[in-house]
Amino acid sequence: MFSMLLLLLACAGNSESSPLDSAPPAECASAPDVTWQNWGHGFFLTYCGACHSATSPNRDGAPENVNFDTKAEVVAMKERIRLRVIEDQTMPLGGGVYEEDLELLNVMLACGL
Ligand code: HEC
Repeated sequence: MFSMLLLLLACAGNSESSPLDSAPPAECASAPDVTWQNWGHGFFLTYCGACHSATSPNRDGAPENVNFDTKAEVVAMKERIRLRVIEDQTMPLGGGVYEEDLELLNVMLACGL
């Protein structure tokens, strides 16, 4: 059931004609309530903060202008985030994101920002 939802959202996100920053797909009506406040902030702190935070003492090569400390920064880069974390799975470096968190991230990027 949940994976069905993931597939639907992934398709909606992939379509050239309906980019993520247009109106949320209809599937969002039945999606879990995943927002920056109730989930996203913690996710980015846990998985990305070591390298992608303005206050990180050791960015490990992460670009100076790619930080995920605020919702606005994540909104601005959501397509790149979806691509690198969910599709290509080349971020975070070294991987290790729980499947459940990938699903929730997908929902938040499509519906919760
Ligand atoms: C161990 C350090 C490290 C962690 C943790 C990490 N990154 Fe990165 N990130 C990098 C480095 C190094 C680069 C530049 C090289 C590259 O693009 O592969 C980068 C670049 C990026 C870029 C910009 C390049 C592009 O494709 O637009 C994005 C977006 C990104 N990371 C997302 C994330 C997200 C989201 C997370 C957490 C889920 C994360 N990263 C976790 C080190 C890290």
